[in-house]
Amino acid sequence: GFFVGTAAAGGGHHLEQDYPDPFTHDRKYRKILGRQFSSVSPENQMKWDFIHPERDRYRFEEADAIVDFAERHGQVVRGHTLLWHNQNPAWLEEGDFTAEELRAILRDHIQTVVGHYAGRIQQWDVANEIFDDQGNLRTEQNIWIRELGPGIVADAFRWAHEADPEARLFFNDYNVEGINAKSNAYYALVQELLADGVPVHGFSTQGHLSTRYGFPGDLEQNLRRFDELGLETAITEVDVRMDLPESGEPTEEQLQQQADYYVRMLNACLAVESCNSFTVWGFTDKYSWVPVFFEGQGSATIMTDDFTRKPAFFALQDAL
Ligand code: XIL
Repeated sequence: GFFVGTAAAGGGHHLEQDYPDPFTHDRKYRKILGRQFSSVSPENQMKWDFIHPERDRYRFEEADAIVDFAERHGQVVRGHTLLWHNQNPAWLEEGDFTAEELRAILRDHIQTVVGHYAGRIQQWDVANEIFDDQGNLRTEQNIWIRELGPGIVADAFRWAHEADPEARLFFNDYNVEGINAKSNAYYALVQELLADGVPVHGFSTQGHLSTRYGFPGDLEQNLRRFDELGLETAITEVDVRMDLPESGEPTEEQLQQQADYYVRMLNACLAVESCNSFTVWGFTDKYSWVPVFFEGQGSATIMTDDFTRKPAFFALQDAL
C-alpha cells in the first residue's frame, strides 16, 4: 500500500527546445521510469494548457500514453491537476466569459478529464496551490476563485468525485511541509469542507526543498494533524536543490546534505500511517525543472544528467 513515484517528464516541458518529450523519446529514461517506481505523475501532460488547448478540444494522447505505460508496468497514477492558477491556456485566461460560463467550463473540464480516466487514477490533485505563503487564498491570481468565489473549490471536489468515485481527491501545495500560516490555512479549510460533507480525501505537500534553508523539522507533525482529521497524506513533488559552486558540480558535502533531506522527508511520510506515497519530481537532473526556475541552483534530483545514482538514491533505497 505504499507507493514510490516520480513525475514523467514531457508535455509542454520547460526543456522542450532541448529535448522533445523525454517520456516518448528517451529509452534509457523510460526503462528507469518503468523499473524503479510504483507510481507515476504526468509532469505537465494533464495540466489545462496541455490537455485542453482550445475551448472545444481536449488532447489526451500524451496523458493516455503515460497512463497506459503505468498500467503495463503495474504502477498507479497521480493525476495533476484540475484547478490551478498556472499553466492555464490563453483562451481561458484571456477569454471574456461570464461567471456562469466559467463555471460550466470548469465543470465540463473536470467531468471530461476525470471521467476520461475514471478508475485508472489513484489520486487527483484537484486543487493546486490555492493559498499564498501568508495563508491567503489567491483571490487575484486564481481565475476560478477570482471570478467565482472560494466556494468553487468545494464544487471542483464534488464534480471530480462524481466523475470518478474511486479516485482519492487531494489538496496539493508547496511550502506546506511544516506547520506555518499556509498549512494552517489548509488545516482550517479542510475541516470546514469535511464538516460540509465535501469529498476531500487528502492533503499533500510537494516537498520542493533547498539546502539553502533548514529542513522543516515539523513535517511529521504536520502530516499527522491531517491524518488525525481522517485524511490521506502524501509527499508529491520531492526535489532538493542547492546553490551550485562555480564549477557547476555539487560537492560531496552538498550531496550528503541532500541525501539527508530526501531521507528525512521519506521517513516523515513512513512514520505517518496515512502517508501512502512519496513521489520525486523527476529522477534525473537532465530533465529537472529546477535550473530553469531557480537561478544558480540545480542538482536537485537523485540521479545526475547521465543517470548516475547520487547518495540520495542509495539513501532512499536503504530507508525503504
Ligand atoms: C513544473 C514542471 O516541472 C515544469 O516542466 C513546468 O514548466 C512548470 O511546472 N508545482 C507544481 C508542478 O505543482 O506542476 C510544477 O511543475 C512545479 C511546482
